[in-house]
Amino acid sequence: MMNAEMAIRLDNETAALSIREALEFLIEKFPGKISFSSSFGMEDQVVTDMIFSQNLPISLFTLDTGRNFEETNKVHNSTLSRYGKKIQVFHPYQTDIENLVSEKGPFSFYESVENRVECCQIRKVKPLHRALKDVSVWITGLRNEQSNDRGNLKRFIFDPANQVIKFNVLFDWSLEQVKRYIKDNHVPYNTLHDKGFISIGCAPCTRAIGPGQNIRDGRWWWENNSSKECGIHTNGNDQ
Ligand code: ADX
Ligand code: SF4
Repeated sequence: MMNAEMAIRLDNETAALSIREALEFLIEKFPGKISFSSSFGMEDQVVTDMIFSQNLPISLFTLDTGRNFEETNKVHNSTLSRYGKKIQVFHPYQTDIENLVSEKGPFSFYESVENRVECCQIRKVKPLHRALKDVSVWITGLRNEQSNDRGNLKRFIFDPANQVIKFNVLFDWSLEQVKRYIKDNHVPYNTLHDKGFISIGCAPCTRAIGPGQNIRDGRWWWENNSSKECGIHTNGNDQ
């Protein structure tokens, strides 16, 4: 049974360990119960390389919202070719999508924050629940720097919505560190990163940013007063 105390304990127990050592510690403690979620962004590609190139027994999955960029599909494919390992894909529930698009059309998310959150719930949050059903430790590529809201990010956080411990492996990495790792290790990456895209989500909801803009300004850019979160990371982040 996972809880907030367990997150604190794991944080203490792994404080002096490298990422590799911390992963090995967790593998021993929670065998077969650790999963990493990837949206094929820069950070995720770093974590994928760490797991796959060291043959760590950690499963990988992605939430395919059905609205990905073609470039994201390409890096998904080149990641499969490069490492020859499996990435489990989770799709939204078919009837959810059919009802949503039949009732509100393909671009309902531009119309209101409620509609946008509804789409994210259907395409991301609900499939994530399914992906984490039998998981104890959920590894993510979240970084502290990514937005103001995420400034308090910790290495380990209990996620009450999914009843798992989140392990934010790269929580204290800078963007420069991420880029350097990708370059040094020749890790496949999303070519949109070369065109001004930093944080990449669904195609209709992500655009490139210019100099001086916040890393997440290209996500849901038409919303001014929302949290700019899709809902998969809202619970537990502020603890
Ligand atoms: S989001 O909440 O705004 O969409 P972000 O793009 O910053 O999240 O990604 C942060 C972390 O969330 C990623 O490193 C990854 O672990 C997880 N994540 C986000 N989107 C997906 C997705 N579509 N599939 C799997 N994991 C995802
Ligand atoms: Fe829907 Fe946009 Fe959220 Fe993707 S990011 S799930 S398209 S609202």
